Amino acid sequence: MRFTLLTSLVGLVVGAYAQSSAADAYVASESPIAKQGVLNNIGPDGSKAHGAKAGIVVASPSTSNPNYLYTWTRDSSLVFKLLIDQFASGEDTSLRGLIDDFTSAEAILQQVPNPSGTVSTGGLGEPKFNIDETAFTDAWGRPQRDGPALRATAIIRYANWLLDNGNTTYVSNTLWPVIQLDLDYVANNWNQSTFDLWEEINSSSFFTTAVQHRALREGATFASRIGQSSVVSGYTTQANNLLCFLQSYWNPSGGYVTANTGGGRSGKDANTVLTSIHTFDPAAGCDAATFQPCSDKALSNLKVYVDAFRSIYTINSGIASNAAVATGRYPEDSYQGGNPWYLTTSAVAEQLYDALYVWDQLGALNVTSTSLAFFQQFSSGISTGTYPASSSTYATLTSAIRTFADGFLAVNAKYTPADGGLAEQYSRNDGTPLSAVDLTWSYAAALTAFAAREGKTYGSWGAAGLTVPASCSGSGGATVAVTFNVQATTVFGENIYITGSVAALQNWSPDNALILSAANYPTWSITVNLPANTVVQYKYIRKFNGQVTWESDPNNQITTPSGGSFTQNDVWR
Ligand code: NOJ
Ligand code: NOJ
Repeated sequence: MRFTLLTSLVGLVVGAYAQSSAADAYVASESPIAKQGVLNNIGPDGSKAHGAKAGIVVASPSTSNPNYLYTWTRDSSLVFKLLIDQFASGEDTSLRGLIDDFTSAEAILQQVPNPSGTVSTGGLGEPKFNIDETAFTDAWGRPQRDGPALRATAIIRYANWLLDNGNTTYVSNTLWPVIQLDLDYVANNWNQSTFDLWEEINSSSFFTTAVQHRALREGATFASRIGQSSVVSGYTTQANNLLCFLQSYWNPSGGYVTANTGGGRSGKDANTVLTSIHTFDPAAGCDAATFQPCSDKALSNLKVYVDAFRSIYTINSGIASNAAVATGRYPEDSYQGGNPWYLTTSAVAEQLYDALYVWDQLGALNVTSTSLAFFQQFSSGISTGTYPASSSTYATLTSAIRTFADGFLAVNAKYTPADGGLAEQYSRNDGTPLSAVDLTWSYAAALTAFAAREGKTYGSWGAAGLTVPASCSGSGGATVAVTFNVQATTVFGENIYITGSVAALQNWSPDNALILSAANYPTWSITVNLPANTVVQYKYIRKFNGQVTWESDPNNQITTPSGGSFTQNDVWR
């Protein structure tokens, strides 16, 4: 018995040493490669960004299966947030020209009319553009409303640095108009449905809600700083509504955040871990309302998320149930084979490093009933309570958690090829890199995790001390894209319309009824965003030569689902 205990203790220590030295080695070798990997994919001079305009981030140079030679607002903004943090903290002062190129390029893209609309009619929600700054016009999951929020966050960070360094005019005249467009878009549209960050589910999405909250919160502070006081209360009101709505994603019985309101999946999703690291505020302690990395909810969620990948990937088999594994976007994923992703696996490590940083600052670590299962992975006998930094329990837990975090980097290291290139995914069966090569976001994600491991933080955005409003308003704002198809034969010049019991169907107004398309005559169709979880009554009407004919009674009725899309097929009655 004694012998076994001792052996397993030695095993643990040796295992810990191996994880951490593998992570040390990976950080040392991969850091310069990842940095160069990011720069290679930025136009006009990046070696793998041929044809990209100045400041345009190419998602990946891969041109087929998948073709990622486009620029996504999400990827670009996350990448430039990293570069701006490096610049503003003085880690790399050479980046200023590139950052100016980025803000100029984004100002141009904002104005490009695209399938989501123009700058004033929803075009800011367009997820991706061609790298020559023209619109991408094929079918796609649009809009994606995280993009403007992430872009505002990145540019505000740069603008604050410029203000600190006395460049007020440029900020007010050039950057503020760009930032304001994005913040106004978020303030006006946050309660509309959106495709999630994986471009698949059209509903409300935790990551999108959280980054929108952050953007409006720091946007309000920034606007005050430059004297744009007229927008402050509007942004603050919607930030409070977002913070309220954000709480509704928590699944108390499952102990995790359900990533999307639609989609019909388990809801376990890297969406939530990415939220924690991209809305990390080192001054906000372990606040659960903003899902801070060391909050009990975020830690419980992290365990549930990681555990969802233990048994589904062959490369994770045989790994102890409390050790690091490869993780992917969500367990049901099948895109490009549905494999582990580098950027999701490094995000797990990053959340844990952020948590360790804050516990160290606070000088204590708190175990609650919500986070108990997370901590039991490292000490099966642990009980709820507060453990001061001077206690042996604190030392045991934090050292085991650091080893656990390093383990996720070690997993990525194991499946990173000798040249250090980071693709999007690696095979669930044997770890071979798969899907898009040289994914800019994979490189950026490695670098932010490495920085967190070194205890670097990049400023607060105002998450500390917020109060969640007692009751939410403006939320429950989720909508569903409902397609109405009706079979109706008509005479030339006669058209079919719809009206019904909700504002989106013009509140039973025949004058303002919405016209359907006859592109597939005799099927007439229209797609309308209707409130989710709502009983909606409606009728079709015909208009011909000024005459209005209603369908016969009773009214038609549907109940909309909680999100996503819905199709209703009818025959004119
Ligand atoms: C392409 C998107 O980029 C990806 O996120 C998605 O999973 C696939 N389309 C499948 O919908
Ligand atoms: C697919 C990912 O799902 C999406 O998040 C990303 O924006 C694009 N690829 C481009 O990297």
